[in-house]
Amino acid sequence: MSAEKPDRNLAIEIVRVTEAAALSAARWQGRGEKESGDQAAVDAMRKVLDTVEMDGTVIIGEGEKDEAPMLFNGERVGTGNPPEVDIAVDPVEGTRLLAEGRPGSLAVMAAAPAGTMFDPGPCVYMEKIVVGGDAAEAIDLDLSLADNLNAVAAATGREPRDLTVVMLDRDRHEQAKREVREVGARLSLITDGDVAGGLLAAWEDRPQVDMLYGVGGTPEGVITACAVKALGGAMLGRLWTRSDEERQRAIDDGYDVDAVLDVDDLVSADDCFFACTGITPSQLLRGVSFGRRSASTESLVMRSKSGTVRLIRAQHRLEKLRQYASVDY
Ligand code: FBP
Repeated sequence: MSAEKPDRNLAIEIVRVTEAAALSAARWQGRGEKESGDQAAVDAMRKVLDTVEMDGTVIIGEGEKDEAPMLFNGERVGTGNPPEVDIAVDPVEGTRLLAEGRPGSLAVMAAAPAGTMFDPGPCVYMEKIVVGGDAAEAIDLDLSLADNLNAVAAATGREPRDLTVVMLDRDRHEQAKREVREVGARLSLITDGDVAGGLLAAWEDRPQVDMLYGVGGTPEGVITACAVKALGGAMLGRLWTRSDEERQRAIDDGYDVDAVLDVDDLVSADDCFFACTGITPSQLLRGVSFGRRSASTESLVMRSKSGTVRLIRAQHRLEKLRQYASVDY
């Protein structure tokens, strides 16, 4: 048995980044301005990120340099001192949810040793299936969704009608919706936010959801994989292209668009870190609330090496923070 000393858990620092993003973004709840909410979260995130002792490169960011003052792919973040890490950020996962004041928006960040995160490149979408660890052997993207549901039910000692599947409500999912209904499972359609759906499916502490299925963002898929790894769940993905041109571009860039990717393909490191903070409330986390003297947040913080999952409720004394913090609380 090896006896390592407890080492640093970067997730504990990363959660300060997602808390700051959530607190800033929450002011934009229901105001119908997607970009403003996102911008507030990005600004807060960047300020706190720069205090974290790490040499980070954004692999999953908010797009390409110079397009917007966002955290762009390739941007260096942190103090510049070791460790070298890949960074994935989604300052507001569910920008429309936030702008419309709907449940389920999150501020999210993940980190993993440099060179270990899948780079989505031009691949915008990915087919994903996420389940809890007890159903890991039951999922197979080469089989139909109905077959997957029957196998997950059998693996977990239940009937298909006992299962609940979360799915983005999109036209591209008509066949999948039909299959869920035909096997008699329960369907929970969401307008946005499949990272939260994946966390609910993978986390045994939230038994309301058994599976996330559907085509969503590839960056969100990589972020989800970091969390699934820490939660001990299971996930498979496959790149999904909208046209022959998009498919060809991905192939030309060296992507295998037919391969089924597992969590290790999406993030190969055994030591990855994940934190998210609720902005608007959901089944997963409370949202930000503003009281007379303080604001409160709820966050999930985890590390795959140890498998420790922390649920952190924090009270933020805004009048104190405003005296010295550069973040606009
Ligand atoms: P944003 O936060 O970037 O708005 O993404 C929200 C989201 O719903 C993701 O959760 C999901 O992966 C993706 O968009 C789905 O993309 P689309 O809306 O194009 O179907």
